[in-house]
Amino acid sequence: MDKPLSPIPIKDALQSAALIDSVLVQGWVRTRRDSKDFSFIELNDGSCLRNLQIITKNSLPNYAAVQRLSTGASIRAVGTLVTSQGKGQKWELIAEQIEIMGAADDSYPLQKKGHTPEFLREIAHLRPRSNLFSSVFRVRSRLAFAVHQFFQERGFVYVHTPIITGSDCEGAGELFRVTTLDAKKMQRRTDGEIDYAKDFFARPTFLTVSGQLEAEAFALALSKVYTFGPTFRAENSNTSRHASEFWMIEPEMAFCDLSGNMDLAEEFVKYLIADARKHSPEEMELFARFVDRELFARLDFVVERPFQRITYGNAVDLLKKSGEKFEFAIDYGSNLQSEHERWLTEKHFNCPVTVFNYPKEIKPFYMRLNDDGKTVTAMDLLVPGIGEIVGGSQREERLEVLEENMRRHKMDPADYKWYLDLRRYGTVPHSGFGLGFERMLMFITGVSNIRDVIPFARTPGSAEF
Ligand code: 4AD
Ligand code: MG
Repeated sequence: MDKPLSPIPIKDALQSAALIDSVLVQGWVRTRRDSKDFSFIELNDGSCLRNLQIITKNSLPNYAAVQRLSTGASIRAVGTLVTSQGKGQKWELIAEQIEIMGAADDSYPLQKKGHTPEFLREIAHLRPRSNLFSSVFRVRSRLAFAVHQFFQERGFVYVHTPIITGSDCEGAGELFRVTTLDAKKMQRRTDGEIDYAKDFFARPTFLTVSGQLEAEAFALALSKVYTFGPTFRAENSNTSRHASEFWMIEPEMAFCDLSGNMDLAEEFVKYLIADARKHSPEEMELFARFVDRELFARLDFVVERPFQRITYGNAVDLLKKSGEKFEFAIDYGSNLQSEHERWLTEKHFNCPVTVFNYPKEIKPFYMRLNDDGKTVTAMDLLVPGIGEIVGGSQREERLEVLEENMRRHKMDPADYKWYLDLRRYGTVPHSGFGLGFERMLMFITGVSNIRDVIPFARTPGSAEF
């Protein structure tokens, strides 16, 4: 008996070096059209952007069924891979056999016409079958790999920090609670508070907003580490740049100060852009044609030039002197709003900008206090079109100063004993940052809504699928 044929990805078929006598491909019908003696099927299997054209002769025994195939149906095709007569492709398949696996009728929502991103979001389970979304998610996969490559090449150790945690790293109170207590029969203590001692972990627990605190513990043992995992924020921000569940990359380095930290963030952003340009050329071409015409010019500019660096104080001065009418007034001591960040990076500098040394009042407890006693070693990297893409800092490594910071932030140092131990035993200057993976993907693909770079988006009021 003949060995059954193993299927090959359409990507490999299209890149074939020579004619292949007998080949098996499988995928979903994108379009089909008939001529007098043939039916032409455009088949896509998601291995690459392009389709393989399959030519089906009317002599096939199931030709009548083939003629009923419509967009969305799944098939397997065996045939000969030959040089294509048609334009735009090198190879096509002359089918000897078509096996129909799953039909799709006219109600299939992804018919050939163009669709709005809003409509496609409602069919998030089918949109990976479109050119745009299959491309976005292939690039997402490639860049996840590049993240690991970047850090592994530089001797960083990958640490899996916990998803369920007892601490609020950012101190912003934007936490999703994790509990097995039954809301209907919640036990209260005598003071009326819910008794979390009766809960699953015998204490209050939450989904993590950042792996940083745990990453610090590992950096102070393994020197250079990074985390890359899901992160959860219960902030009620319904914007195109906020998701309730997103992925964050957080490197943490012992013996590193703010300037080394800024250098790494800049190198990392440039590396990811260059990687996408190099390894996903067809997808990038699609984004540049259909999503954002300025994409390549902007990305090349970013890769080639050093980023601007400016203190928060100087940034506020520039904003005040700009003469620009902002919705939110800007004054020393207030947070930079998205419109301010975008003015700096898009209008004033017209390139990525790292703003550093923010007032201590508007930043979390763990950032290192500068000698001026007023600012902390925070840094935010802002990019055109998006605003903040990286947030990081040098960490406070002095025990007494850190305890003081905590008290100022109304935190009880006793709750963070393990974190303070890192300062009690062999403390060193150390630094790190967080890069929002989805924001990076938006920047690299030009896709303007975060909901369109994550497979199944979770945002306030929306957790379909
Ligand atoms: O600036 P953030 O809040 O910093 C931290 O969490 C630090 N603990 C990181 C560290 O130093 N290790 O978040 C870091 C980045 C932001 O710059 C942004 O890119 C992304 O995470 N981010 C979000 N992305 C999507 N949706 C949200 N709701 C996000 N919040 C933050
Ligand atoms: Mg931030």
